Amino acid sequence: MTTQKKKLAIMGSGNGSNFEAIARYFQGKDTGGKCVDITCLSNVENAYILTRAQNLGIKNKFLPFSENFDYFSKNEFDLVVLAGYMKILPDEVLSLNKFINIHPSLLPAFGGTIHSIKDAFLAGVKVSGVTIHWVTSDVDCGEIIAQYPVFITAGMHFDEFEEEIHAIEHKLYPIVIEKLLEDKVFDFQDLMKSECGSKCGDSHCGGCHS
Ligand code: GRF
Repeated sequence: MTTQKKKLAIMGSGNGSNFEAIARYFQGKDTGGKCVDITCLSNVENAYILTRAQNLGIKNKFLPFSENFDYFSKNEFDLVVLAGYMKILPDEVLSLNKFINIHPSLLPAFGGTIHSIKDAFLAGVKVSGVTIHWVTSDVDCGEIIAQYPVFITAGMHFDEFEEEIHAIEHKLYPIVIEKLLEDKVFDFQDLMKSECGSKCGDSHCGGCHS
């Protein structure tokens, strides 16, 4: 018996590195009838996220902001994922589906800005991180689904910190999306534990919880 393919839309306006991490994660999965049907959408016609989708053989579409309501009224998805989408979606669009977003800080700290990685670093905090949350029309204010910390150690360079934030984003977003698509309640710490194990040698792993 095959399970129906889950339909996932990923929306972005620029680079698309999170889109690519998600797409590669699902492309690399043993399908067994469970694979995910991904559509990449961008409100920016020449955005690199669309080029990445073309290169990966994934359906993609330039979707002007003004056409969102019409599009999501006619196209059903199990989940819509924002990944660097630089516009604020109004309630009338958000009411048409489930939307999630990723933000490169531990919300509610350093929300509402595209400079949150730099702002956190310059503020001198010792820990920042990544948040995945439900989208509401209040920017970066929706209920938190998952968070993961990144520590700013003594002498750490900004580039190193930024790189680590993005590495965590690319690892966290796909596994959270997979669990949401499976409609499973999950303890996020367990997810990260199963990803790394005790002998992973992963530089992002702060050690496993027992
Ligand atoms: C990411 O840092 C994400 O957290 C934020 O926008 C950035 C998008 O990067 N919302 P990319 O387009 O996925 O490379």
